[in-house]
Amino acid sequence: MSNAGSVTVRAPGKVNVQLVVGGRRTDGFHELANVFMAVSSYDDITVSPADRLRITVSGPGKERVPTNDSNLAAQAATLLGKHAGVEPGVHIHIDKRLPVAGGMAGGSADAAGALVACDALWGLGTEQHVLMSLAAELGSDVPFNLLGGTALGIGRGESLTRLPCPRTCHWVFAIAGFGLSTPEVYGAHERRRREAGLPFAAADMPTPQPSAALLEALAQGDTAGLAASISNDLEATATALRPELTRTLKAGQAAGALAGMLCGTGATMAFLATDRPEAERIAERLLASEACASAFVADGPVPGPTLA
Ligand code: C5P
Repeated sequence: MSNAGSVTVRAPGKVNVQLVVGGRRTDGFHELANVFMAVSSYDDITVSPADRLRITVSGPGKERVPTNDSNLAAQAATLLGKHAGVEPGVHIHIDKRLPVAGGMAGGSADAAGALVACDALWGLGTEQHVLMSLAAELGSDVPFNLLGGTALGIGRGESLTRLPCPRTCHWVFAIAGFGLSTPEVYGAHERRRREAGLPFAAADMPTPQPSAALLEALAQGDTAGLAASISNDLEATATALRPELTRTLKAGQAAGALAGMLCGTGATMAFLATDRPEAERIAERLLASEACASAFVADGPVPGPTLA
């Protein structure tokens, strides 16, 4: 939407269909094989001219979203402004539906949405590859949030290759009543490996790879194959940090999900369903089980941020 000098962008969240975690690099990031899928749950980012950079937030969890310079959408506007030589005097309003600290890349979606929205507001027409490199400066997941669809991210997750996925996947997301911090989850993952006498440095570990079975299932639109191969190497760590997540996982499986796993670094759990009506039934049963704070259904893959 672009009226009276404002622009609104719908920015989708994501699920990590497979997250394979390798060793920690000397820059502190972990080598990943990260299979991303953008899903139809969105934050709306509205930008309008203002005398200074200002952030407001509405929606569930808004009190946990920073409204200062640390907000990733604010950083996105500042970075794009600097790149284009534009003063980033802009009011960014984030209408949140994605869970905060939920592992669905809510912050990264807001950053990707702010890049697209400010680019339109300022009439820049920045080329996509330039926006992608700005996105990578903002965070490991932001390039994927800009790209959308389905993709494999290697390196720290920012180096992307699109993956074919001809079939719509139906997901149920169980939202926890708490968030998990991404650096804390990676830190705990490394501690667990160290305590178990396992290597944890990138130099001592093979480069992570997605499973051939998962890529094949995605390409073939094989839901049963996908259910058999979705995985997240951080799930054991997240459930060790918050054991109640195991109950959520079991509740989703008991509710009829084909498979379930931790979403990104959590604390959201993602479940795969055969079709949309079944996904809606699973979400209702999950809510009734009280094994999560809320639950909703979303489909994927969907395109990246779009002007609303
Ligand atoms: O890139 P981003 O700012 O989203 O990363 C947040 C934190 O997550 C990093 O500071 C790091 O602790 C952890 N991380 C990691 N390896 C990655 C991506 C993120 O260790 N590949």
